[in-house]
Amino acid sequence: MGHRRSKKPVLPVTLPSLPPFEEYTELLREVWDTHWLTNQGPLADRLEAGLRRYLPSPHVDAVTNGTLALQLSYRAVFPRKGVVITTPFTFAATTTSLVWEGYTPRFVDIDPVTFNLDPALVDAALRDDVVGIVAVHVFGNPAGGPALSRLAASRNVKLVFDAAHAFGVRTRPVPLWSLGNASTLSFHATKSFHSFEGGAVVTSEANVSRRVRRLRNFGLRGPEEVVEAGINAKLNEAQAAMGLLNLRYIDGWIRLRKERYDRYRSELEGTGGVQFQELAKCRYNYTYMPILLPTKRLRDRVARDLERSGVRPRKYFFPPTHVAPYLRGSRRASCPVAESVSSRVLCLPLHPALGVSDVRRISAIVRTVVQGR
Ligand SMILES: Cc1ncc(COP(=O)(O)O)c(C=O)c1O
Repeated sequence: MGHRRSKKPVLPVTLPSLPPFEEYTELLREVWDTHWLTNQGPLADRLEAGLRRYLPSPHVDAVTNGTLALQLSYRAVFPRKGVVITTPFTFAATTTSLVWEGYTPRFVDIDPVTFNLDPALVDAALRDDVVGIVAVHVFGNPAGGPALSRLAASRNVKLVFDAAHAFGVRTRPVPLWSLGNASTLSFHATKSFHSFEGGAVVTSEANVSRRVRRLRNFGLRGPEEVVEAGINAKLNEAQAAMGLLNLRYIDGWIRLRKERYDRYRSELEGTGGVQFQELAKCRYNYTYMPILLPTKRLRDRVARDLERSGVRPRKYFFPPTHVAPYLRGSRRASCPVAESVSSRVLCLPLHPALGVSDVRRISAIVRTVVQGR
């Protein structure tokens, strides 16, 4: 995104996919005709209806971005402020949103092969002060979700999934979007499905949805009654138009992503020392191409050599969030697996417009560094 021009063509880690320009202006014509720009307009309604069918889920409430989706879902789901069990192997927003909303994160370590919260460790960390759990389907991998869902239900603890990476993922027999009390999505430009910026709260619980809809609109219940202190988290019509169009194209884009993902796997499989995230059985969305190197030194060398060739991988997610300086010492925890994975992980470029020859070239650079160590 927005990379500077240089002599060498730069291969960014991702590139937003876009619908045909004419289709976008055609939809904007409706906005010009109605003068309805925001405040849950007809395009936002249509987008929510489309998302309910696509995911599928009975309730999908669109908001301004994935961070607000998290904040609103905590308020709608957790019974009170207190300790929330969460993972340190995630993007900063999972943790900052908890702190911003006044919860105390309790970090629990991840599974070394799925990179998601380890349900057995979550079980061990559940004490009376815990008001909820925030789990992440990291890189869209739903592994461990059903086990966490069962655990939360049996221990009477509320559960929110940060599913920012999981758009388009489908699981059986338990549908992904029925897990926990709510899941959140990010429609940021860097995600496989986007609306420039945007997000949504997805839930099967009508009362959670009702609360989110009120919270995103200042806490208003009707035009003259503010029943609680909400916020402005509405998705505007220009964003909704982009989302609506991308919904037409997303499955084709996922297919293109899969081809490139599979190509990386066949190019790198068997390269001693390169490991892949173990995915749960599902219809996956191939939004990220994470690889795990044997050491941090090697990961950093691979990153450096790729950069020198004009490739821009990203160290997602490094550092892990539990070591962030804004967290007081008491909130820090020992999460050796997350620290190890975080210091060795590297996300390679993956998006529908990436050339298959680029996948070969990137893989060759990775192989050269790893084999020459
Ligand atoms: C795991 C995770 N959670 C939350 C977010 C926040 O989403 P947004 O950028 O739409 O606010 C992101 C990405 O941006 C993310 O990767």
